[in-house]
Amino acid sequence: MGKSVIIVGTQWGDEGKGKIVDLLTDSAHAVVRFQGGHNAGHTLVNKGKKVILHLIPSGILHEHVDCYIGNGVVLSLDALVAEINTLPANIDVSKRLKISPAAPLIMDYHIILDKLREEKAAVDKKIGTTGRGIGPAYEDKVSRRGLKVIDLFDPDNLSHKLKEILDYYNFIITNYYHGSAIEFQSLFNKTLKLADKILPLVTDVVSELHNLYSKGSNILFEGAQGTLLDIDLGTYPFVTSSNTVAGSACTGSGIGPKNIDYVLGITKAYTTRVGEGPFVTELNDDIGKHIAKQGHEFGSTTGRARRCGWLDVVALKRSVQINSLSGLCITKLDVLDGMNTIKICTSYQDTESATALGNNYSHDECKPIYEELPGWQEPTCGITDINKLPKNALNYIKRIEELVGVSVDIISTGADRNDTIILKHPLL
Ligand code: GDP
Ligand code: IMO
Ligand code: MG
Repeated sequence: MGKSVIIVGTQWGDEGKGKIVDLLTDSAHAVVRFQGGHNAGHTLVNKGKKVILHLIPSGILHEHVDCYIGNGVVLSLDALVAEINTLPANIDVSKRLKISPAAPLIMDYHIILDKLREEKAAVDKKIGTTGRGIGPAYEDKVSRRGLKVIDLFDPDNLSHKLKEILDYYNFIITNYYHGSAIEFQSLFNKTLKLADKILPLVTDVVSELHNLYSKGSNILFEGAQGTLLDIDLGTYPFVTSSNTVAGSACTGSGIGPKNIDYVLGITKAYTTRVGEGPFVTELNDDIGKHIAKQGHEFGSTTGRARRCGWLDVVALKRSVQINSLSGLCITKLDVLDGMNTIKICTSYQDTESATALGNNYSHDECKPIYEELPGWQEPTCGITDINKLPKNALNYIKRIEELVGVSVDIISTGADRNDTIILKHPLL
């Protein structure tokens, strides 16, 4: 029997999903992206060689594996073609990268609108988006006016639809935001040119995934962003515009809920957030700076500094519930090496977690209550055997397991694919 595993971030993104997907791909036949777009930045390091992927699934470096972009992903043709060109020369995407005809397209007007909105928003209303047009593209999908990959097959119809959409967007861009209108012909020509490269990759992803599953192949579903950035269940409005939770793997790829065998939640040993919005355990002090420096906490997509803080178990427990997590993978344990004391937030003072996590709560309203654990001085970087972990590092992992009630099945001790302790392999 084959297995299908969903991998999701349990925090605000950048938990190390890319590394773990790349690692587990060794035992998989297919890797599927099901939501988000090129706002994601997934870092893969193998024997010191680093690759950052935004849209292409993190299985692409393994030549035996097919990579799928499902219908839930918003697809920028510019970004995809550019990313294909950055792949190592030995990777041939022509047979291994497959794209759903139902994926909505991110067009230039989405990107312009995303940036204009952020620029013009009052300071306390800025979301700190990646400026990739993600929000406006999902709006078009939901409003049923958007273009999809399938529209690229019929240039006449595409031309007709694009003219209509541009009328709408140019009105908003020029009249509401006082920006410059987008010219139809150059956008149309560019789109057709890029489409030539992409159309050969278009596949009925739903059928292929069901065929693979029924013939016993292992499939990985690679989440982007993190649970707290989910449009419905995250810290709204400071969220992304897709459902980032495990359930989204079904709607974003066409696999059914009964075909999911295991859900792996990726959790940093501390917390980071890039962009605006509440962050209860944020550290605006020397410890926060130390974690940022040790963890090289700069965004893989925008290069922005990530805000850092302690692990928030209140939020993590919520992630366990929302995603039906089967197991956890704790990443970046090595970043905490050498600290005297490590804190875990176990509750919020005077605030219902339901109120705090589901809404736009302010930092002042919500104070963390911490449990303190002793740190460890020995380096953990690159450890692959659980018995070699310092006693206090192991205690930290055990305490997280106890608090959230889910087993830690994988521990990551460095950026490299091999710097990993696998206690239970989700696919084997
Ligand atoms: P993703 O978006 O969830 O795939 O994560 P990112 O790639 O954006 O950010 C994670 C960063 O941490 C990347 O630079 C990884 O190379 C790095 N990383 C992943 N796991 C570990 C780890 O266990 N230890 C250390 N030190 N770095 C790690
Ligand atoms: P990966 O997959 C971290 C954040 C942005 C912003 C908010 C909305 O690498 O974990 P958007 O451009 O999506 O409309 O921005 O979401 N964000 C991420 N933060 N990791 C990501 O992806 C992110 N993708 C979006 O910073 O706060
Ligand atoms: Mg990232």
